[in-house]
Amino acid sequence: MNERKEIQTYLKDAVITVEEALKSVLPADWDVPQRLRDSMMYSLEAGGKRIRPALVLAAAEAVNGDEQASAQALSVACAVECIHTYSLVHDDLPALDNDDYRRGKLTNHKVYGEAMAILAGDALLTHAFHLIPQTVSSGVPAQTALAISSDLAMLAGARGMVGGQVADVLGEQGITSISELEYIHLHKTSDLIVFAVTSGARVGGASEQQLELLRQYGRNVGLAFQIQDDILDLIGDEAKLGKKTNSDVAQQKVTYPYLLGIEESKAEVERLTQEAKAAVLDARLAEPLRLLEIADYLLNREY
Ligand code: IPE
Ligand code: IPE
Ligand code: MG
Ligand code: MG
Ligand code: MG
Repeated sequence: MNERKEIQTYLKDAVITVEEALKSVLPADWDVPQRLRDSMMYSLEAGGKRIRPALVLAAAEAVNGDEQASAQALSVACAVECIHTYSLVHDDLPALDNDDYRRGKLTNHKVYGEAMAILAGDALLTHAFHLIPQTVSSGVPAQTALAISSDLAMLAGARGMVGGQVADVLGEQGITSISELEYIHLHKTSDLIVFAVTSGARVGGASEQQLELLRQYGRNVGLAFQIQDDILDLIGDEAKLGKKTNSDVAQQKVTYPYLLGIEESKAEVERLTQEAKAAVLDARLAEPLRLLEIADYLLNREY
């Protein structure tokens, strides 16, 4: 009998699969200005945890029960990483968080200049919508691909991640309540995680009821993830994180630790993780274990 992989090994394997696919995500025969190609690939290949694409693959497999389902979801996994990477390139710009390091390297605008960083972000965002229909050639029904595109536009755009980033920018210094801060975190971070989980689940053939429970999982994992990000900004190790700590302090951001303190924020991460796992258990998936393990893995992350 096959030995079951540890979650760390499972995630490492997912990173290898995704990074291999990302190498050729931008067709070599497209006539793209070389500097744009370089700038896009610089950030896309810089590393990072690849947790969103891993969630796409894990959710497809969890719902379907067959490993093959994750192979069918690979282009959606690449699409979510394109969106996430663009969001980081733009988030680091002087007009937003003004950060110099990301994923252990200089930020995109520090290497390619602000104009190219903005345009490389635009191109990565657009490219995601080229990748989603490619699932159809791996056997995913066209209707499923359409639903995934529509979800992505909603969850990454004005009603989703971009809306959250805007609330984050407008809220600097002025926020006093947890509910306002929760709005920011749910949109700037949870929405793309909800997309990752539900798009994979759609490829795996999820029912509406399963999708709803997996939205709850994504919401809670995403909120926990951003609170942990805020905690690590204060007490994390720069070498492990690959980005500077105290960025939120420098930008005068209001965060969970700022409002609640570190200990209470940690307790909130724990509570949200338990809620996320309860939703997965309710969803009666074919193989729920990986999604449960990923929630716990993120709870203990140091980067
Ligand atoms: C950082 O995301 C931005 C947030 C939404 C907190 P990650 O912590 O997933 O960054 P990478 O992809 O590993 O670099
Ligand atoms: C970024 O949140 C969220 C998005 C990019 C959508 P942060 O600004 O906290 O992320 P880091 O700390 O720079 O990675
Ligand atoms: Mg930010
Ligand atoms: Mg930032
Ligand atoms: Mg942060």
